[in-house]
Amino acid sequence: MSERRPRILSGVQPSGELHLGNYFGAIAQHVRLQDEGDAFYFIADYHALTTVHDAERLAALTRDVAATYLALGLDPQKATFFRQSDVPEVHELTWMLECVTGMGLLERAHSYKDKVAKGIHPSVGLFTYPALMASDILIYQADLVPVGQDQVQHIEMCQDMAQSFNSRFGRRERDAEGVERVVGPLKRPEYKLSPTPKVPGTDGQKMSKSYGNTIPIFASGKRLKKAVNSIVTDSRDPKREPLDPDACNAFAIYALLHDEDEVAALAEQYRRAPEVGFLGYGVTKKAIIERMQERFGPARERYEALKRPGSELDDVLREGALRARAVARETIAACRQATGLGPLLSA
Ligand code: TYM
Repeated sequence: MSERRPRILSGVQPSGELHLGNYFGAIAQHVRLQDEGDAFYFIADYHALTTVHDAERLAALTRDVAATYLALGLDPQKATFFRQSDVPEVHELTWMLECVTGMGLLERAHSYKDKVAKGIHPSVGLFTYPALMASDILIYQADLVPVGQDQVQHIEMCQDMAQSFNSRFGRRERDAEGVERVVGPLKRPEYKLSPTPKVPGTDGQKMSKSYGNTIPIFASGKRLKKAVNSIVTDSRDPKREPLDPDACNAFAIYALLHDEDEVAALAEQYRRAPEVGFLGYGVTKKAIIERMQERFGPARERYEALKRPGSELDDVLREGALRARAVARETIAACRQATGLGPLLSA
């Protein structure tokens, strides 16, 4: 009997232009993993509603995220790609999960506390965000969730919620050795970090749409220059003293875009700056700009074309939603049965 391929699932919010943190923390591995399992990727527009309160902007950002993924190599023949809000059943499972989740679990969420500290209005939606995210994962029976470091706590919460649900509503069975175990309708997922799970922003904090410290993947020309030149560096003079690659934001971003030998060569120049006449951080920034143009320039053209009305993007999302919704409905049916809500009446 052939084994089921692992289901790989992840989402990204359309709450701003996607940036190098999203790329190296998530998108690059999402594209790689579409060859290794049954991949489901979605645009988390319900989640973005916690911060984006402008209809036109939400619609444009949703299109922007879809075009970014497709331009960067997501293949809709291999991966199921859809908008979160095209599968409204996700809210039904969210509610069931909320009913078995203690307030304390959500109160410990770092992401909620960070966002509120940054001045985002603490709405109920922002507070219950992790339950919707758990439902996103559990409704598609995901095995593996590839994400950046900042999402790990959310996935651990999802594991807790799956366990609470299954232990309340699952069936108790004995295995061959007589050991009792609970078999429930929800599958415990694992997270998978990218090799670069915490990409720093231009100010050295985590690169984030909400911190205003991003380098957008498809920025070009003056906008790209401005973003890269805003990377904060120290005031050491390379003519007089060595520079420290390990303490340099520009170096960290350079390292994402260059191979091992190039990175080692630049580190050497930093450490021997006065001896080798290294000109300083401007050199690193120029190299970042050039490499970004080489690396993302061709995809940028595809991205622009995909964003235009009438491109294949709408069909891709529609197809993806149909496939995703069929899976979601199976999980909902099993959960309705397990909880005693029972089957939906057919119309
Ligand atoms: P979001 O939209 O903030 O980010 C999308 C993905 O990019 C990663 N990421 C980073 N990785 C490394 N360094 C950074 N500076 C950086 N910034 C962002 C994130 O870790 C993420 O993998 N809650 C999620 C969206 C979501 C989701 C889900 C994800 C909703 N439902 C279900 C997985 C499964 C979020 O806000 O990601």
